[in-house]
Amino acid sequence: MKKLFSIFLVMFVISILAACGKTEKVDIGIVLPTKEEPRWVQDETRFKEALKDTGYSVEILFSQGDSAKERQNVEALITKGIKVLIITAHDGGAAASAIEMAKEAGIKVIAYDRLITGTDDVDYYITFDSKSVGAAQAEYLVEQAGDALVENANLPLFLYAGAATDNNAFIFFEGALEVLKPYIKNGAFEVQNYNGSTDLTKDSLTRAELSEVVGKITTNWDFNTAKNLAEANLTGYNGGSTTYILAPNDGTARSIADVFASDTNISTYFVTGQDAEKASIQYIIDGKQSMTVFKDVRNLVTGAIDMATKLIENKAITTNGTYNNGNKDVASVKVEVQVIKQDSVKSILIDSGYYLSTDFTGIE
Ligand code: BGC
Repeated sequence: MKKLFSIFLVMFVISILAACGKTEKVDIGIVLPTKEEPRWVQDETRFKEALKDTGYSVEILFSQGDSAKERQNVEALITKGIKVLIITAHDGGAAASAIEMAKEAGIKVIAYDRLITGTDDVDYYITFDSKSVGAAQAEYLVEQAGDALVENANLPLFLYAGAATDNNAFIFFEGALEVLKPYIKNGAFEVQNYNGSTDLTKDSLTRAELSEVVGKITTNWDFNTAKNLAEANLTGYNGGSTTYILAPNDGTARSIADVFASDTNISTYFVTGQDAEKASIQYIIDGKQSMTVFKDVRNLVTGAIDMATKLIENKAITTNGTYNNGNKDVASVKVEVQVIKQDSVKSILIDSGYYLSTDFTGIE
């Protein structure tokens, strides 16, 4: 009798577990590109913080810079019955087929930070104002050059871009080039590390021309690629010793800065960045990186969750622009950015509670 009872008990527990497995439902699925870059770990942390207050269940998966893994993540979330997918694509073109699969399953798709291209199936896009990221980086370099930036001054300018698989890399670069173009055209700045066939000073560059340029100066968003490229660019370099460097983001900026700092022919370098990663804030405090563009991830996260919950609840969504993804104009929400320099680390990042002063050395 006792034995029979324990068999029943085991069967009962197994059936409960099986039922739980079957009904493990998730409302909102989030797919982020990689854990290897602090930027996306920041987004995960901020999502977790913000989601504590919603009644919806959420699962966050990372694709580790691999489109096949990204697709598996989307599949796994579809199986769990998600209603909304928030996704930052590793490769904006390759992700199209994964989101088409989600769309077929009746799921709403929000492109988060990076646009997914070549598909009708992106419902919304939430992003920082990427054009102004690039523009702010270039304006900073112009500002630093100051009075020296005169016709034919030939101030040495090094240009680096993000990954060609990321639509943002194009927008950042376009934003920067728009500001730099007149100074390149009149010889005030002289680009040192681009020798492609596209004329950078042309009034407007086609996507194909931009691809050619980005392809020549790409870091692929990868620290080592950035380092190797900067080293190659400085091999045999015998230009001016005060240099101006457009680096697309913080991770690549730190790699590039290290290379320039260790070159004895360079006395001063100004290098841009973006993301306000902790490591780069420390570099800025230490005078090793010149600036960064702060993208307050809290705002992007809140915006994305707000969109997702409205989609689930069939409520209206307010957008403030569109981005063309090659197939359609995607209704978008654009979030503002801020420039951080040594003198604004405290007022913008610490006083707002984004980071703690104890996260760094050298902030009183
Ligand atoms: C993001 C940047 C990030 C870069 C590399 C871009 O799409 O907008 O914030 O630094 O990807 O991950």
